[in-house]
Amino acid sequence: MSLVSFCLVREELARTCPNAELIFTMQGLGAGPIIVAGNEEQKQKYLPPVASGKSIITFALTEPSGGTDAASILSQAKREGDHYLLNGSKTFISMAPDADVYAVFAKTDPSKGSKGITGFIVEKGFPGFVPGERLDLIAAHPIGSIYFEDCSIPVANRLGEEGEGFKIAMQTLDFFRTTVGACAVGMAQAALEESLKYAKQRLAFGQPIAKFQLIQAKVADMAMKISAARLLVFQAAFLRDGGKKNITAESSMAKLYATEIAQQVIDQAVQVHGGYGVCKGYLVEKLYREIRALRIYEGTSEIQHLVIANQLLRD
Ligand code: CAA
Repeated sequence: MSLVSFCLVREELARTCPNAELIFTMQGLGAGPIIVAGNEEQKQKYLPPVASGKSIITFALTEPSGGTDAASILSQAKREGDHYLLNGSKTFISMAPDADVYAVFAKTDPSKGSKGITGFIVEKGFPGFVPGERLDLIAAHPIGSIYFEDCSIPVANRLGEEGEGFKIAMQTLDFFRTTVGACAVGMAQAALEESLKYAKQRLAFGQPIAKFQLIQAKVADMAMKISAARLLVFQAAFLRDGGKKNITAESSMAKLYATEIAQQVIDQAVQVHGGYGVCKGYLVEKLYREIRALRIYEGTSEIQHLVIANQLLRD
């Protein structure tokens, strides 16, 4: 799928059905490392069941010791003949521990930092794979921990060569960070539409609140920010689909700006709704809880600033 198509689908699903959006996206993120670096055999074996929904796949990079400093992961895989033995743990893994397949990143040479990381395709049935606990978030999202205790992974399940794992993970995130921006735009758009509807119906001081200029200023500001965010998202997507190899900065800008403004837009939507905005059962209340994680996952807003600056200084 082109990045533009992926963003269009993600924005529209986020606007209309966040649960469908979650399923669509998580299958994509989990499959990402196989699409980026898998060989033909791995693609044939693992991708069709993911596309048809028979197999749930996920992306497993983050560890209890930290998510932002991805190069410092502690999980280690040691080669023993035609297998690797993997030890360590992963947490904040979407769809875990229920997912069937995991794109796991672990150190094969701890002395080499980010260049000592290797990617693996791990099935939950592999010996030594231990399902962990589920985490309870402020907004419904299936997420949890997994453990590896001498987990035996065939060499055939290694993604690319040893040491290529960090780049595979980062390339996957370059693609998906743009789409996180698209998701944020969709959620903000839903909040705007709900606010417009509510402002036209809700009466105060004898007229719909939409007649008041302070409400008008809010919705104008919301629409303007959403449009700007959407343009950043599709700029990154068009550049990548047009053949630009490195969209790291554009992707981070799209994610950073769209998730930050979506938080502001949804907050304003709650304000337009007054007391009802914080009542369970109102869409804006749900969006208010759901948007928060987007400024954290797949790289915090703070890390996106650093990624953008690194690219600018490098160039
Ligand atoms: N594409 C290709 N290569 C890349 C790259 C990219 N986007 N980014 C970095 N690299 C390469 C660099 O070029 C470098 O290689 P060379 O030395 O050969 O040039 C190597 O990788 C190391 O790069 P850095 O020195 O920049 O690495 P760093 O250790 O300083 O880390 C970082 C950079 C930006 C902080 C990175 O660790 C990062 O993005 N952290 C955030 C991780 C993250 O997003 N975690 C979320 C996990 S997923 C999730 O949240 C989903 C869920 O399910 C909840």
